[in-house]
Amino acid sequence: MPVEQPQAANKTAAAALALGIDLTRLPKHVAIIMDGNGRWAKGKGIGRLLGHREGYKTLRGALLAASELGIGYLTVYAFSAENWRRPTDEVSGLMKLIEQAARDELRSMHQNGVRVRTAGRLDGVPEGLRSALEHGVETTSRNQGITFTLAVNYGGRAEIVDAVREIVAEGAAPETITEETISAHMYNPEHPEPDLMIRTAGEMRWSNFLIWQAAYCELFVTEVPWPEFKPAHLLEAVAAYQRRTRKFGAVLE
Ligand code: IPE
Ligand code: IPE
Ligand code: MG
Repeated sequence: MPVEQPQAANKTAAAALALGIDLTRLPKHVAIIMDGNGRWAKGKGIGRLLGHREGYKTLRGALLAASELGIGYLTVYAFSAENWRRPTDEVSGLMKLIEQAARDELRSMHQNGVRVRTAGRLDGVPEGLRSALEHGVETTSRNQGITFTLAVNYGGRAEIVDAVREIVAEGAAPETITEETISAHMYNPEHPEPDLMIRTAGEMRWSNFLIWQAAYCELFVTEVPWPEFKPAHLLEAVAAYQRRTRKFGAVLE
């Protein structure tokens, strides 16, 4: 009798199967530190903002690929709480780009069943960007497809500070506070913790991204700068993830 082959529902799933990826053991939540836009632009002799613009195109492809693959949650680092230290024209250009992207992509994301979420201090970003993001979150809130979280003005330490402030404001007794209490006060407590964190452009650091949630997440760093990151690189990261042994501190025998 012929061996039954798993069926691929789309191009990304077919490519994944060809690479030996087990579609029943995907990371539930993938987080990406989209880095290297500036270096990529410099290498081409163009301005940094053009690098960010190219990075936006990359993100569109990565979201589609993650969704086709069957990843439940994709969280991307778009602007960190520390990125305000950059030159003002780069900061304002990024704010405008993220706002434009949020508005332009909403229709197709909604049609594809994407559920948009945000992470970060939205009260600290320009009004136009905040309203675009809030509109996106609201419009897509009942969708059943991939949950796509855009981290904007996001800092992992700031998130923990915000959680602690809420817990204190609620008047919790110190001895009742557990790790679960902290987790329950993160920006998106209902999301599973990331299983796989990808960083592009080669730096071996977290840069304050999801530092609470990433305690046991698998890291995958690629030299590829974000503007050149293709769905094939996402599959490469998932394949590497599936070769890892996650032990969570225990001995597996
Ligand atoms: C990542 O690319 C995008 C943001 C941080 C907004 P960079 O702008 O950090 O690119 P490099 O690190 O300078 O190459
Ligand atoms: C992290 O990249 C932030 C984002 C990708 C949005 P950075 O380029 O800001 O990180 P550092 O400065 O190299 O640590
Ligand atoms: Mg960088």
